[in-house]
Amino acid sequence: MTTTWKPDSWRAMPIQQVPDYADPAALAAVEARLSSYPPLVFAGEARKLKKGLAAVSRGESFLLQGGDCAESFAEHHPDNIRDFFRVFLQMAVVLTFAGQMPVVKVGRIAGQFAKPRSAPLEAMNGIELPSYRGDIINGIEFTPESRNPDPRRIEDSYRQSAATLNLLRAFAQGGYANLEHVHQWMLGFVKDSPQGHHYQEIADRISEAMAFMRACGIDPDTAPSLRSTDFFTSHEALLLGYEQAMTRVDSTSGDWYATSGHMLWIGDRTRQPDHAHVEYMRGVKNPIGLKCGPSLSADGLLKLIDILNPENEAGRLTLICRFGANKVFDHLPQLIRAVEREGRSVVWSCDPMHGNTIKAITGYKTRPFELILKEVKSFFEVHAAEGTYPGGIHIEMTGKNVTECTGGARAITDEDLSDRYHTHCDPRLNADQALELAFLVAELLKASRHGETRKIAVAGI
Ligand code: TRP
Ligand code: MN
Repeated sequence: MTTTWKPDSWRAMPIQQVPDYADPAALAAVEARLSSYPPLVFAGEARKLKKGLAAVSRGESFLLQGGDCAESFAEHHPDNIRDFFRVFLQMAVVLTFAGQMPVVKVGRIAGQFAKPRSAPLEAMNGIELPSYRGDIINGIEFTPESRNPDPRRIEDSYRQSAATLNLLRAFAQGGYANLEHVHQWMLGFVKDSPQGHHYQEIADRISEAMAFMRACGIDPDTAPSLRSTDFFTSHEALLLGYEQAMTRVDSTSGDWYATSGHMLWIGDRTRQPDHAHVEYMRGVKNPIGLKCGPSLSADGLLKLIDILNPENEAGRLTLICRFGANKVFDHLPQLIRAVEREGRSVVWSCDPMHGNTIKAITGYKTRPFELILKEVKSFFEVHAAEGTYPGGIHIEMTGKNVTECTGGARAITDEDLSDRYHTHCDPRLNADQALELAFLVAELLKASRHGETRKIAVAGI
């Protein structure tokens, strides 16, 4: 580990998951151009998010992070952004009410383009081609032209991220996030859901609270905080050439910030302490995430915390745990104990998606809703047992009614998966499944607020 960090000091380190660009000069030209383009986010916003996450680390807020596994050029449409945001806000309302505390809202969006892969090549019908690594690198179509990494895609991703973020900012501040509207959408979901009666009680109580506030003269017309919200962006910092080009000095503090998104995270495959991805991330001041999978030991985690958050700053580091529904009890307690013993400030968040991917008999990659729920529930139980705070969830979701994860109130089966299986990478919760999950997490959150591990009624768990 070098002691002097620079935006390009990662280039001297071993690195995983690098695309093989045929024309390095073309890549360098794109990166040079990008480095003079406007930043997508402003350092002051990243600091605001860090403050919000510091509140989560103290148990005073809850983190909701979610979005596509991988954004794509093909699905870049205002309706998709709107539908995602619409569901995401409804989830946030339910969680705000259940937790009786603010929800920090972070999308996996406006930059979530690069995907780590388990193998560099993919074979089909006797032909081998480079694996798809996300639209920022190559195309999903199985042809040599499309699979060839193309640097022009980096600029296209930057522009798509800018356009997406622009619309999200307009929605968050321009009236679309009006609490009374979001509440009405949520009531529509409860009315139409086959499991709606389970959610009716929370929905009714939110209705009462809103009516009471209105009667007291507090409504979106009189209280600006009821008609807007703070929404932040995040993605995996995988393509470091892009991240470096978007790394800028903040003129107000003199510090380096990643300006490709408010929060960046390190993937489970690229968290080697002496490798490039950890080196890049240690030097930017943004709030960052670290994916924690079953292969991470307690000592390994402490070593990474030393590197990534040496000053033990609250809100700097979110540990995004993704063990698999049946492995949470084997791995999470020892990590929590090590962090507590050493007095490190972190946010504990649960990614119940990535450890629960299976292949359906129909051949589709899927995730059973019951396993997703079980992982979240185990996460809450372990924290209750350790006396620590389950600070958030990190999910892959979309606002569309896709059929990618099985189960849920509308009981998607293996056979249904082929109907609307649109993901460019991992299976996402659809709009209904995402909201159902929010209601179930709301129950857990409410129980954890009352210091009880309440049994929630979910078939098979
Ligand atoms: N501004 C508050 C917040 O963001 C309340 C709020 C307004 C809100 N619109 C919302 C909460 C939509 C959740 C969803 O928490
Ligand atoms: Mn994924």
